[in-house]
Amino acid sequence: KLIESGSHSWSSPSNIALVKYWGKKESQIPANPSVSFTLDACKTTTTVKYKRLEQPNSEFSFDVYFEGDKNEAFKPKIKTFFKRIEGYLPFLKEYHFIIETSNTFPHSSGIASSASGMSALALCLLTIERDLSIPLEVTEEYFNKKASFLARLGSGSACRSIEGDLIVWGKHTDIEGSSDLFGSKFPYKVHDNFKNYHDTILLVDKGEKQVSSTVGHDLMHNHPFAQERFKQAHNNLSRLINVFETGDLRAFIEIVESEALTLHAMMMTSLPYFILMKPNTLEIINKIWRFRQETGRNISFTLDAGANVHVLYPESEAKEVYEFINNQLVVYCQNGHYICDRIGFGAKQL
Ligand code: PMV
Repeated sequence: KLIESGSHSWSSPSNIALVKYWGKKESQIPANPSVSFTLDACKTTTTVKYKRLEQPNSEFSFDVYFEGDKNEAFKPKIKTFFKRIEGYLPFLKEYHFIIETSNTFPHSSGIASSASGMSALALCLLTIERDLSIPLEVTEEYFNKKASFLARLGSGSACRSIEGDLIVWGKHTDIEGSSDLFGSKFPYKVHDNFKNYHDTILLVDKGEKQVSSTVGHDLMHNHPFAQERFKQAHNNLSRLINVFETGDLRAFIEIVESEALTLHAMMMTSLPYFILMKPNTLEIINKIWRFRQETGRNISFTLDAGANVHVLYPESEAKEVYEFINNQLVVYCQNGHYICDRIGFGAKQL
């Protein structure tokens, strides 16, 4: 269809991996499968306005506005994304795009916006494709799969942000429907213990990431422990199937904390090597362990490729754990800043 102009808006959440994706092959194919909680409060809102060009361009034509201001810094990443998805969205060079984007979390919070940002952008572009194509009955399942497929080409973990609340990405023999190409809902029973699970993100270091994830994933090439690590991720995901079914929070804690520490262990043992935890990261981890030992509360932590700590706990223990966070952990946060988030249900069209 020949459409001159239009506009679409989506908001898309961030996600936190329980079994980590670290290491990739060509075309954003993960070296191992991963699983994540979709978040709720941490999200990106993106509007894409499109206007037909007089003549198709040889280059992509777009402007980016971040939180109201014209932004040049995001353009190279978006251009790379456009290049990768051009074959699946062939209209990209026929239109000029204005991409307006903002985050609910502070830009300099050390929280990566690539998952929420790239998934929101993928969804806007896919909705534009729907405007331009001959009306075809597309099921929601197909739409979500394609959105996730496209988002993966922007940033691997972004493919886990389209839906909620528990998303698997990467082929795993025990998980029906799992694929390297897109994220999909965890297909088996999930115990009520995991309903409304909390994630309080303690902002230990709000600085720019020391290691970009592109560089990070590359470190797994020729990594001496790579093969063992990939095997371990498969095993941990297998174990989680039973944990989710039975609601075994102790086993959940063991797997999730071990995954977080292994991610950092991989970084410490690659060449070049990095230490991304800060002294306060370790202070927090030790405090969490002590509190768990003393009170029996099912509190645990996970980490991304940075110093911030995600504190995970079930809804039924939220009051006590939240008090503990406030009384004992907030002192380790930069300017006392933290974000209260919880498990969420995916992107929304606005
Ligand atoms: O999506 P990327 O390429 O930014 O990689 C994300 C990697 C981790 O956040 C460290 C782990 C994960 O599975 O999200």
